[in-house]
Amino acid sequence: MIDLNWRYATKGFDANAKINASDIQDLVEVIRLAPSSFGMQPFKILVISDQDIKLKLQAASYDQAQIGDCSHLIVFCIDKEVTSAHVDQYVDLICETRDMPKESLTGYKNSIAGFVNGKPAEVKLEWARQQAYLALGFLLYACAEKKIDACPMEGFVADAYDEILDLKDQGLTTCVLAAVGYRNEVDEGQFDAKVRKPVEQFADFI
Ligand SMILES: Cc1cc2nc3c(=O)[nH]c(=O)nc-3n(C[C@H](O)[C@H](O)[C@H](O)COP(=O)(O)O)c2cc1C
Repeated sequence: MIDLNWRYATKGFDANAKINASDIQDLVEVIRLAPSSFGMQPFKILVISDQDIKLKLQAASYDQAQIGDCSHLIVFCIDKEVTSAHVDQYVDLICETRDMPKESLTGYKNSIAGFVNGKPAEVKLEWARQQAYLALGFLLYACAEKKIDACPMEGFVADAYDEILDLKDQGLTTCVLAAVGYRNEVDEGQFDAKVRKPVEQFADFI
């Protein structure tokens, strides 16, 4: 079992410590391989190491220093509106990946399309958000395994992010962030005891 007491939401990163390219690729793969409802993956990520962009984003994140000091900022962007076109693309990808004829998936495609077309836009946005958060959880766990520090973050102004990152034209909007890198040795959070509900209040075994 991974030492989850080692990980904490890191506020003080060592701005000079950078994650190597191979570890970044591994983290991207963890996010890509996370499960999602129907397998639709209604989100994508931006992995940002450009310091100028990070500083612009820090200003749009209530000036939280993690953004500028982390090695890489991972921005989870969700599809603003999931449509039949997304379902078609997904079913095409299944057919291509598994070398299957499209007709064999007509029933499956219709059932996903029924789900997608039967929901109001805000419900689909929330559904997309849930998929991104699940992948965020995978990322945090993988970071702990690799002894890479991370801070999950939702303290930012989504509209400003969408503007800075030019997401509007791509039909995307910012959902949640993870700053990743290495803690600095004086960051106090690493010495704090974990505050969690006691297991007897938290889990019922029935
Ligand atoms: C979805 C989410 C959003 C968060 N947003 C922020 C944030 O914007 N800034 C921050 O410093 N911490 C943020 N946190 C960190 C939490 O405050 C932290 O995970 C919580 O207090 C538990 O502490 P631990 O992660 O150190 O165990 C966020 C955590 C989660 C899961």
